[in-house]
Amino acid sequence: MNIPQHTAIIMDGNGRWAKERGMVRVQGHNAGMKSLKEIVKASSTMGIKYLTVYAFSTENWKRPQDEVSGIFKLVVKYIKQEIKELDANNVRVNIIGDWHALPEDARASLQYALDTTKDNDGLVFNVALNYGGRAEILKSVKTILDKVASGEISQEDLTEDTISSYLYTAEMPDPDLIIRTGGEYRLSNFLTWQSAYSELYVTDVYWPDFTPAELEKAIEAYNGRERRFGGLK
Ligand code: IPE
Ligand code: IPE
Ligand code: MG
Repeated sequence: MNIPQHTAIIMDGNGRWAKERGMVRVQGHNAGMKSLKEIVKASSTMGIKYLTVYAFSTENWKRPQDEVSGIFKLVVKYIKQEIKELDANNVRVNIIGDWHALPEDARASLQYALDTTKDNDGLVFNVALNYGGRAEILKSVKTILDKVASGEISQEDLTEDTISSYLYTAEMPDPDLIIRTGGEYRLSNFLTWQSAYSELYVTDVYWPDFTPAELEKAIEAYNGRERRFGGLK
């Protein structure tokens, strides 16, 4: 089987999963953390090189404050529980998004995860936190404008690669496969630039029910796709 080098996941459906069980939404997010743990392990074993997961969008701040703070508490809890195993499995944690806007304890945990795993050369595990595709493109454009103004780069030399090189995902390949759980057919501001030629896979399965077997199904579906990138077969 052809393993997508870069797999990205929109981990949606935690709230509905909880609601169906008469639980509060944060319990759904907690259950989602357990799926994440298994999916990271499976991705590593399967030989995926980059796994990018959408954990919190720039739009998710619109949610009730207790849900937002509950999600960030879970980030702290997840890192505390998982960091040893991630490190032992040679996983390198990386954060994409403006994570410096997160609460102090979450930032400290994230920094610890980055420092602990920085020399690992196995799976690159990108966690998108306070991430928005449009905000990311805007950030890249602002950096480029500064460099054009200072003469460091000239406008004539600007290419698509220049924009890519100032995104959070600089130096990473674009996602080959984007999986969305929870059944919605949209990207919700995820990897807006990078998804230009990604294969999309949507499943109705809610994120807390997404198992490594479901990941394998997604990869099987990916293997049935013909990627043409605008060319001919
Ligand atoms: C996705 O699950 C996780 C986050 C956005 C943090 P949701 O919380 O959006 O779950 P639904 O879509 O309401 O079921
Ligand atoms: C996308 O899910 C964001 C994450 C999974 C973190 P949302 O639940 O926020 O997306 P919409 O609101 O349904 O588009
Ligand atoms: Mg949702």
